[in-house]
Amino acid sequence: MRILSVTFLVFSEILISSQDEVINNRRFPESFKFGVATSAFQIEGAWNEDGKGESMWDRFLHNNSSKTLDRRNADVACDSYHKWREDVQLLKELGVKIYRFSISWPRILPDGTTNKINQAGVDYYLNLLKELKANNIEPLVTLYHWDLPQHLSELGGWLNPQIVDYFGEFARLSFRLFGDYVRQWTTVNEPKTACLLGYANDYGAPGLWLVADGVYQCAKIQLLAHAKAWHIYDDEFRASQGGKIGFVLDTPWNEPASDSDLDREAAEREMQFGFGWFANPVFIGDWPQVMKDRIANRSKLEGLGFSRLPEFTQKEIDYINGTHDYIGLNIYTGKLVEYLPDYEIGTPNYNFDNGNNVYCDPSWPASSSDWLFYYPSSIRKLVNYVNEKYSPEEIFIAENGWADHGEIDDQSRIRYHKGYLSNLLDAILEDGVNVVGYTAWSFMDNFGWGAGYTHRFGFISVDHDSPNRTRTWKSSGRYYQKVIRTRCLVDTCVD
Ligand SMILES: *[C@@H]1O[C@H](CO)[C@@H](O)[C@H](O)[C@H]1NC(C)=O
Ligand SMILES: *[C@@H]1O[C@H](CO)[C@@H](O)[C@H](O)[C@H]1NC(C)=O
Ligand SMILES: *[C@@H]1O[C@H](CO)[C@@H](O)[C@H](O)[C@H]1NC(C)=O
Ligand SMILES: *[C@@H]1O[C@H](CO)[C@@H](O)[C@H](O)[C@H]1NC(C)=O
Ligand SMILES: *[C@@H]1O[C@H](CO)[C@@H](O)[C@H](O)[C@H]1NC(C)=O
Repeated sequence: MRILSVTFLVFSEILISSQDEVINNRRFPESFKFGVATSAFQIEGAWNEDGKGESMWDRFLHNNSSKTLDRRNADVACDSYHKWREDVQLLKELGVKIYRFSISWPRILPDGTTNKINQAGVDYYLNLLKELKANNIEPLVTLYHWDLPQHLSELGGWLNPQIVDYFGEFARLSFRLFGDYVRQWTTVNEPKTACLLGYANDYGAPGLWLVADGVYQCAKIQLLAHAKAWHIYDDEFRASQGGKIGFVLDTPWNEPASDSDLDREAAEREMQFGFGWFANPVFIGDWPQVMKDRIANRSKLEGLGFSRLPEFTQKEIDYINGTHDYIGLNIYTGKLVEYLPDYEIGTPNYNFDNGNNVYCDPSWPASSSDWLFYYPSSIRKLVNYVNEKYSPEEIFIAENGWADHGEIDDQSRIRYHKGYLSNLLDAILEDGVNVVGYTAWSFMDNFGWGAGYTHRFGFISVDHDSPNRTRTWKSSGRYYQKVIRTRCLVDTCVD
């Protein structure tokens, strides 16, 4: 799909933004919340200032600069620890109704435990929340966006069940300190990717190659931690604070590569292994049956007396089942899934337990990132799938965004958000899916984990080479500003 020239767009943008795309020209509902998203580690910097403790990501990057493509780390990132006032002014100018950010656990609890509370860190978030409130911007606060305190990582991190209790204490403290300002909480962000990046290989912290079993243990413990925080909120804070709490899962839309039964089954299995893995325990109770069956079978053939997928006790199932007030989705792209015959029994591995051929259609426009392609109907298909299968109270799109090399006139990012939002609007207005908000990734260019600063996602450019981390508006920021103001994706909308 090719973007037509700007001149052409001026005249015909009403319906068509590129050769074969129809952009929905109706308005988003008044109640729909437009916003942008970030996370603490990716923007704050000030990694050791004012009493902040070390996170496992600080340690991971300081230990080996080859962990990022550009060999840079997040010690300064966007310097939002110092520039938060300027950032809130940018959010205000953008016109967002909601801002999604995360609390750095080691900034308020330096070693992860409530033994010592770092008041300067608490003040940072209180100031930010007050400034947002003064500017009529709602916060959507994530408790865990990957920056586990290093001390707790040394204790075993997400492989140690005791982390669930530590997370509970951190959550309770956060609700107590910040809950008066917050009506929407996220417990854990992208548990699948956190477990795969950090416990199945060394692309992310803590970098353990435990792809046979650690990755499943991590999943179980993150689910228990999520449930713990949900119950603490439900039991102790909901009545007085009246907010909502849930988790945010990431998945591509997995589409069968062909109409064959085998490919259809493979695509559904891919959804179960990547999404149902976390959604089923919380919305249905227990792991997906296909995961239980396949991993148990393979474990047995490997000579193990039990399944590498740790079982839940009935008590754990009951504890996790139902711990949701909404579901947050991070959706960037689509994937095609092709059936493969089962991998031979050999080295145990999450990827072999599932075992599909997953790829992107070469005709889909590519971003600068090798995993991210423009496939705008993916968002509509995913929210319909989630709605039908899990019936969440509400769906909130917590991340959706496009990577490039940092162009200021970023027309490909405009095309991306326009196309995805158009499909989301179709899902809301035509399919009746209850999608209540959208926080685009990202507010500004920031630290992209293993990618360092090589791929940019922001509506606002950040000059990571200037000591000032100068912010500059991109064309996409101006486009999104107008979308928010008019609740409309094209120049002329109908009501
Ligand atoms: C990285 O960690 C290893 C293992 O703990 C240690 O031997 C090495 O000195 C560390 N390197 C740096 C640069 O900190
Ligand atoms: C540093 O990380 C790179 C990339 O993961 C890896 O190839 C290399 O072995 C690591 N170096 C050390 C000393 O661990
Ligand atoms: C999960 O909760 C639902 C609703 O209460 C219930 O119908 C279902 O049986 C539970 N699942 C399990 C596996 O216990
Ligand atoms: C598991 O193994 C049993 C017995 O060999 C077989 O009947 C079943 O189809 C297998 N299930 C899966 C999901 O592989
Ligand atoms: C620092 O950056 C801000 C925008 O982020 C800009 O307004 C200001 O002029 C910059 N200051 C210097 C000294 O470059």
